[in-house]
Amino acid sequence: MGDSRPIGVFDSGLGGLTVAKEIFRLMPSERIIYLGDTARVPYGGKSEETIRRFGLQDARALLDLDVKLLVVACNTVSSVAIDYLERHIKGIPVIGVVLPGARAAATRSAEKRIGVVGTAATVRSMSYARAIHNIDPNIKVYGKPCPLFVPLVEEGLIDSDITRLAVQHYLYEMVDLGIDCLILGCTHYPILMEVIQSTVGNGIQLIDSALWTAKEAQNIMKALGIESAAPSEQREAAGGGVRNSVVDNAGGGLAASRFLGSDVTPNFEAVAEALLGARLPSIEKVPVEELEEKEKIKRF
Ligand code: DGL
Repeated sequence: MGDSRPIGVFDSGLGGLTVAKEIFRLMPSERIIYLGDTARVPYGGKSEETIRRFGLQDARALLDLDVKLLVVACNTVSSVAIDYLERHIKGIPVIGVVLPGARAAATRSAEKRIGVVGTAATVRSMSYARAIHNIDPNIKVYGKPCPLFVPLVEEGLIDSDITRLAVQHYLYEMVDLGIDCLILGCTHYPILMEVIQSTVGNGIQLIDSALWTAKEAQNIMKALGIESAAPSEQREAAGGGVRNSVVDNAGGGLAASRFLGSDVTPNFEAVAEALLGARLPSIEKVPVEELEEKEKIKRF
């Protein structure tokens, strides 16, 4: 019963592991094939054309590995290229991170004032504002690019004075604008949740796009009948109890998943562990030339 094929998840780099982590938590019997374009990260400062091209190459690399669902974990690609990917990827559902996060915020903002933080490309695209206005045109949406957050996370500076200063620098103006929800519209930002919450105060609800995207993936898979096993079968396979660990799951989870990167950088393992909350079982390299080929093969 169900569909035992893996879920494909891709990101410009390792940040999308925050989405993978939520998928493992929510759906312990699912396997993932994760692709991080670690040779060409960051995408956030690149042109829309380049983001679209890279996104399509990443998506096709996963499609060729027979995934049943494609999760675009990168906010930048989801913001700039989700329609483009949906047009070019046939046969499996494609979901991005923008819509689930936008929906969660729109239904929670009593004041109808929402802040969005992300890369320059994400904020410039107004993707979250468009998605929120489709739900409720009366909601005010304020965007703020926070380009220092990604390098701070990648340097492991999670709970440090320099990070607190950067958070204050970017977010005090959001507090002054009277927002009551703040969308963390970038893969790396959920890691900064605590420092962001303590800076903006408890009156502002933080919306973690990674979490809501995992829930969206679960809903779509349920609706299409492509979950790997029924929840009762999962529990049986796990020995009767409900396992909720990223690491140890019957048939699915981290140990049964694959992790691909276009460059295995020296800090790959440490950054991955910080974002995923666990060590990667192994890393496979997919050279950039191979990703580029994916685009050419389909184009001509
Ligand atoms: N993954 C990107 C995002 O969520 C952040 C890193 C980048 O700029 O590529 O927008």
